Amino acid sequence: MCGIIGYVGSKRASDVITEGLKRLEYRGYDSVGIAIYNGGIHIRKEKGTVEEVSTALQFTNLDGHLGIGHTRWATHGAPCKDNAHPHHDCTGKVVLVHNGVIENFIPLKSELEKKGHRFNSETDTELIAHFIEQYMNDGLSPFISFIRTVERLKGSYSIVSLIEGEDKIYIARKNSPLILGVGKDEMFCASDIPAVLNHTKTFVPLEEGDIAVISKLDYTVYDHFGNQIKRTPIEINWSSEMAEKGGYPHFMLKEIHDQVHFIYESLAADVSASEDLLNLFDNIQLVAAGTSYHASLVLKYLLQKFKGKTVESIIASEYPFVSFPTKDTLVIAISQSGETADTIQAVRYAKQCGAKVLALTNVVQSSITRVADKIIYLNAGPEVSVAATKTFSSQLAVIYKMLFSGDKNIDLSQIPQIIETILQQEEFIRSVAAQISNKKNIFFLGRGLSYPIAMEGALKLKEISYIHAEAYPGGELKHGPLSLIENGVPVIVLAPDDETSSKMLGSLKEVKTRGAYVIAITNNPEIEKEAHISINIPHLNPILYPFVLTIPLQLLAYYVSIRKDIDPDRPRNLAKSVTVE
Ligand code: G6P
Repeated sequence: MCGIIGYVGSKRASDVITEGLKRLEYRGYDSVGIAIYNGGIHIRKEKGTVEEVSTALQFTNLDGHLGIGHTRWATHGAPCKDNAHPHHDCTGKVVLVHNGVIENFIPLKSELEKKGHRFNSETDTELIAHFIEQYMNDGLSPFISFIRTVERLKGSYSIVSLIEGEDKIYIARKNSPLILGVGKDEMFCASDIPAVLNHTKTFVPLEEGDIAVISKLDYTVYDHFGNQIKRTPIEINWSSEMAEKGGYPHFMLKEIHDQVHFIYESLAADVSASEDLLNLFDNIQLVAAGTSYHASLVLKYLLQKFKGKTVESIIASEYPFVSFPTKDTLVIAISQSGETADTIQAVRYAKQCGAKVLALTNVVQSSITRVADKIIYLNAGPEVSVAATKTFSSQLAVIYKMLFSGDKNIDLSQIPQIIETILQQEEFIRSVAAQISNKKNIFFLGRGLSYPIAMEGALKLKEISYIHAEAYPGGELKHGPLSLIENGVPVIVLAPDDETSSKMLGSLKEVKTRGAYVIAITNNPEIEKEAHISINIPHLNPILYPFVLTIPLQLLAYYVSIRKDIDPDRPRNLAKSVTVE
């Protein structure tokens, strides 16, 4: 995820852009760049934060009223000056910034290389500038060249582009955020509203696939064929704090909603590092902590059941005491931050024992990337709230892509849309939260693939509501925990219609008979009938149920926390990244 911005008007563009980039920095902070057009296009960019780079390179010394800027969260290519945006074509006359992932960048880049284009970076972005150049060399106008180029791109993108000789900005969006702001004698575009909220409160909502051309006095929106379309501007009345959180009261709720977009990004992640390793190794150990450990349990289930591997999943802090990896072991370490000391230590230990290590992380150049042999990035963008939400779903998305991309029976592309439908039940889930927020103990039950999700649901609830919450496999109840069930104790039963559902019905009846208040997350009519409350999920290939079971549990934990007047973004005693053992 990156932050992008464009400005055209009467103000000094470098001031507007530098200020906007500071507000966008939560979207990425590994390198920064600006391009200003004042007869010629001038680019300044470097690795570092907005403050560091804009000061060192004196962004605001650049004269001109038309410009673009970018703050990067690396996906393709390391954070460094060459990979920082803006990028340009061979001539330096087509300059652009981009947020998203171009999935077909390898064939497109080689097509351009064959035509003689030379690339300066490892990014997927640069080819967009070269494509525009190529179409212009072929005799097309800048506008048609831009449209033709966008037509060729697969994946997600928001693009903001300057072309020398044009006093306008060309923009496009698909599955990546981009807003168009309308001021008096000035126009803006940016990854989100807060970046330009101090200049205008009038915005044109762009739909996925829209293309627009903005100039000082005007804007025009087109569909992807280049036909003009009408988009009605809206007025926004946000406070600056609301704006920072994209209109949501907390980062956690924003991040829950952001999952629709970021799962898409994660499904586009480059998982090629896993291909050979999964073919080569039959003995696999997974190490992780907290939420990432729950993702590892899903991976364990899938590797065993569908790939015939022998897999152990071990809590990172326990790993050096209970595990004996060898050179025949593949260790997969999962860490959102890439900084968790327990996980890093486990990786070091595994390497000392001769094992090969693949790391799944969200943070480019985090500590884990320096100790592991191979890395896969989650592409989930920075997560601010302490409780992990979007990064858990992104971990699942990357895991599923590693294992099932190319499997015609498993349609991963439907996941973002399905999550959207679950989010539509938010108000109902809020009402369910109201019924359990004064309880002291809450239990979560699952079986098979749903059990790790029950564990994640219990962790989320205890982290941010301070209610004692435990997850059990349904069958384990009768071996002890059943003694804790008494009148009114909430039991959250994860019972998708899969191979576990008849047994889950039995578990449900066991707790209901003892007075439990049963909340089912299900699509099985018999379970619905027995439960006191049901949160409905759609029918899917059973292997995909973890994605849809997760979302109601995140919302439930969030709304219980709100009912209890706890700040879910900053739970007591917890840190986002635990860098001590
Ligand atoms: C901390 C956080 C948890 C997180 C865990 C592992 O305890 O509070 O939310 O799941 O660390 O973090 P990692 O960055 O390694 O995934």
